[in-house]
Amino acid sequence: MLVTVLNAQLLSKIYQDPAGEVIALKDFSHNFTAGKMTAIMGPSGSGKSTLLNVLAGLDVPSSGSVWLADTEISKLPERERAELRLHKFGFVFQSFNLVAVLNAWQNIALPMGLAGVSSADRHSRATELLERFGLAQRATHLPHKLSGGERQRVAIARALANNPEVVFADEPTGNLDSKSGAAVLDSLLDVAHGGRCVIVVTHDPRLAERADVVLQLADGRLQKPVVDNAPLTPS
Ligand SMILES: Nc1ncnc2c1ncn2[C@@H]1O[C@H](COP(=O)(O)OP(=O)(O)O)[C@@H](O)[C@H]1O
Ligand SMILES: [Mg+2]
Repeated sequence: MLVTVLNAQLLSKIYQDPAGEVIALKDFSHNFTAGKMTAIMGPSGSGKSTLLNVLAGLDVPSSGSVWLADTEISKLPERERAELRLHKFGFVFQSFNLVAVLNAWQNIALPMGLAGVSSADRHSRATELLERFGLAQRATHLPHKLSGGERQRVAIARALANNPEVVFADEPTGNLDSKSGAAVLDSLLDVAHGGRCVIVVTHDPRLAERADVVLQLADGRLQKPVVDNAPLTPS
């Protein structure tokens, strides 16, 4: 069964610039489903970051709506969006942004602490996530002692800490060599195929090739047809 996790309806985003209005996103509609990795591609300036920010509730659209089940995220005040992001969404960024003074284990445990998870549960879940991403031997390493690929896998593990419904990644393989990039891609696919909704902004053709769904943006508009490499048969 295709389960819609995140639903975007006619999203538009207009920035007011000294030089005039910039239409960064225009009438974007799509259902993001569980169990799939969706890649968002398009040339620089086509609206990818704007779309990711609006989908993730980091920013609000000028018009249109974003729904997580029956919650209209795009209507919530920032404080409630922040709470929702902490519990329902996970984030992986190009530049890893792990906390430099915390080790791998502590980085993964951090969002659980913010969400009020008990110390015992933080411990077992962070340990389980380290093992899942092949990082058990790296638990007490600070980020600067880890390779780029290891850091990005810590970031993915951290993004999963609070069992999010959606994992957002912005150019997760952008700073990695091809071997580390492939391991990070395997991890993201594993997360998606484990039942999560994964949404990745990328320039990386290797990533797009293995994504289940590929959305192309041009001038803020979704290009048709949408490529679905792994259509699930509705049951
Ligand atoms: N805060 C902003 N103010 C004005 N224009 C912006 C702002 N953010 C992005 N833009 C413009 O919106 C368009 C889409 O940008 P962006 O979403 O960053 O594209 P991409 O991530 O695909 O490179 C571009 O023309 C960009 O210059
Ligand atoms: Mg961008």
